[in-house]
Amino acid sequence: MSGSSANNQRILVGVSGGIAAYKAVVLVRRLIDAGCEVRVVMTEAATRFVTPLTFQAVSGQPVRVTLLDAEAESGMDHIALARWAQRVVIAPATADIMARLAAGMADDLLTTLCLATEAPVQLAPAMNRQMWAHPATQANYARLVERGVTMLGPDAGFQACGETGAGRMMEPEAIAEALLAEDAPGDMAGLDVVVTASGTREPIDPVRFLANRSSGRMGFALAAEASRRGARVTLIAGPSSLATPAGVRRVDVETAAQMQVAVESIESMDLFIGAAAVADYRVARPAEQKLKKSGASLSLDLLPNPDIIAAVAQREPRPFVIGFAAETERLAEHAAAKRQAKGMDLICANEVGAGRGFDTPDNTLLLLWQDGERALPRAAKERLATQILDTYLQIKQDFPHASR
Ligand SMILES: Cc1cc2nc3c(=O)[nH]c(=O)nc-3n(C[C@H](O)[C@H](O)[C@H](O)COP(=O)(O)O)c2cc1C
Repeated sequence: MSGSSANNQRILVGVSGGIAAYKAVVLVRRLIDAGCEVRVVMTEAATRFVTPLTFQAVSGQPVRVTLLDAEAESGMDHIALARWAQRVVIAPATADIMARLAAGMADDLLTTLCLATEAPVQLAPAMNRQMWAHPATQANYARLVERGVTMLGPDAGFQACGETGAGRMMEPEAIAEALLAEDAPGDMAGLDVVVTASGTREPIDPVRFLANRSSGRMGFALAAEASRRGARVTLIAGPSSLATPAGVRRVDVETAAQMQVAVESIESMDLFIGAAAVADYRVARPAEQKLKKSGASLSLDLLPNPDIIAAVAQREPRPFVIGFAAETERLAEHAAAKRQAKGMDLICANEVGAGRGFDTPDNTLLLLWQDGERALPRAAKERLATQILDTYLQIKQDFPHASR
């Protein structure tokens, strides 16, 4: 199968109760042969057509059917399963499950997962031609497409009911081909990546805070790119209006101290990217009540905040550590010193000042590591994210023992 050898996506295959359920066995087989990790979730009705045991044998993983299942939930619970998936494909998708999804129902495990996941959802509808043509089904189809669900098929042709027309499920080989063709590079599959992003807010009183101009765009772009390349990504974000990238687990924090706690709580970390503009100082004693305006001058007593990146660089086992330096002068010199002082493996330095670096959609970066440097010309932060991760993978390849 073309383009399938380097594939290692985590795909959740949903099977609903149509006559084409047996063809999903072939789909799962194809995806596994191509290197994907597959977990199967069936509706109750689907189990009447094909046994869970068949899918368990083909996928090599337990098959889940029931939502309210204490034993299964004590393993990979339904939310963990929703986060695990980089892609959800329901094949076959019955008229019934399309209706339930269009209505936003969560009345079984599969529909609940579809609401809980941030991964893209794709459906391969399969039903009798009258059912497919029914205005109710067509309205559900349109509603799902409008919401971003991708449809694979249906095909037209001979149907199990003996009729001929539109509604037949796309052949499983063609579904697998379509999924694999959209394949992400997958060169970060299996890696646990933690990204911090945005600025922090350090309270002065209940309504005021110290903040900075960081928008979070660079960190969010890095989280999106790492996820697209197959990593399991946790994004620890200070206040930001940016949308959570697909497949990324997001933890919202406000202060530097909260960000530190969130980072410390993560056990497995292969790569840490500190893209947040963490406040260097916090107010020693934030006022409990709103400070009143007076004619007198006001001084704030500031205490240094913990250095999150330096602490991560001390961890055992040690992740690969990427940090950022925002400088207003002598960029290379200051950045090299910062990289050394904090024990970073790679530093991404940029000049900041009027209209540069912070809160802009693009930037210019200088990447520095122990044995090299790379200047990245002005580009959108999404493009820079790709180049930063390419550089990281290159360093890992050249110096496999540089860190974990
Ligand atoms: C023999 C048989 C075949 C069926 N095939 C289909 C089908 O291909 N497509 C469909 O939408 N419904 C089909 N149905 C109806 C579904 O099984 C029924 O709507 C069920 O409630 C679907 O549940 P689910 O969506 O939770 O899996 C079939 C029913 C029977 C008895």
